[in-house]
Amino acid sequence: MRKKVTIVGAGNVGATTAHWLAAKELADVVLVDVIEGVPQGKALDLLEAMPVEKSDVSVVGSNDYAPTDGSDIVVITAGFPRKPGMSRDDLVRANAEIVGAATKEAVKRSPGCILIVVTNPLDAMCEVARRVSGFPRERILGMAGVLDSARFCAFVAMELGVSVDNVHAFVLGGHGDQMVPLPRYSTVAGIPITELLDAPTIARLVERTAKGGGEIVNLLKAGSAYYAPGRSITEMVDAILKDKHKILPCAVYLQGEYGIRDLFIGVPCRLGSGGLEKVLEIRLTSEESAALHESAEAVKSLVKALP
Ligand code: NAI
Ligand code: 2OP
Repeated sequence: MRKKVTIVGAGNVGATTAHWLAAKELADVVLVDVIEGVPQGKALDLLEAMPVEKSDVSVVGSNDYAPTDGSDIVVITAGFPRKPGMSRDDLVRANAEIVGAATKEAVKRSPGCILIVVTNPLDAMCEVARRVSGFPRERILGMAGVLDSARFCAFVAMELGVSVDNVHAFVLGGHGDQMVPLPRYSTVAGIPITELLDAPTIARLVERTAKGGGEIVNLLKAGSAYYAPGRSITEMVDAILKDKHKILPCAVYLQGEYGIRDLFIGVPCRLGSGGLEKVLEIRLTSEESAALHESAEAVKSLVKALP
């Protein structure tokens, strides 16, 4: 039987994720949104693309959760995106209510699912999903690190004029302006970028990565990024559904790793069919560790602001 992925929120990120998932024939997809007709219309449009794509998945849209029964994965993208001049942090209260309601409905129908939270502010919304679902930490993952790392990869590849396929980049921390790109662990064909680029260039790329979401918001004027986020969510879904034991940076509920407890923050994780299999603790310099803890403090202040 094919796997089933529900995406709550059929806006830009939700619909783009559905597109990637369906085109890759990864799972049957259910799109849920509060706007009448929108999830149904987008789902039908995607379904009608499948004969051309030669993908046999079903794509269904709904305003209620009945078709989501027994989903393997539920991706939560419902909420407001950031507008120009608005920080991710401004979104906390409005989106907590939406994510809480979506989580409650989704887990009633799919008590064994793995939740992938996307709505911003990401790390705080993961905490909302944890409180409402009561799931163990293995089954609540936040998507941000794959996106932030992909942005860093893209900038490094452009700077050096090399294939993106050669570049591996690592970004830790919360999905905010205080995220922690790690140049020492970012490589081109296995060579650390610290050997290939000078410090001011690396600092420039790190800065662009940390502000990568805002750069797109300022260009689009209305709404925020969705192609790279949708593809990044798909990477996590692929690792889980194919039980790949793949290491990806995800926001997870830390239990003492990196000296942080009871807080969602982005760290390298091994993903398999049960969700989080292991948090990888890589050695950090005192500067990197301080930056991670500073990022954790920013997440803590958001969590404190939760209703
Ligand atoms: P969007 O505005 O295009 O879509 C959001 C959708 O959620 C809308 O269609 C809206 O009707 C729906 N919605 C609102 N309340 C709902 C509810 N109670 N139940 C079901 N659906 C509901 O926004 P977009 O661009 O898709 O972004 C969605 C969220 O993802 C935002 O919070 C954004 O900041 C976040 N985001 C996070 C990223 C990350 O790396 N974690 C990357 C990109 C976006
Ligand atoms: C981004 O980084 C808005 O968080 C979203 O593009």
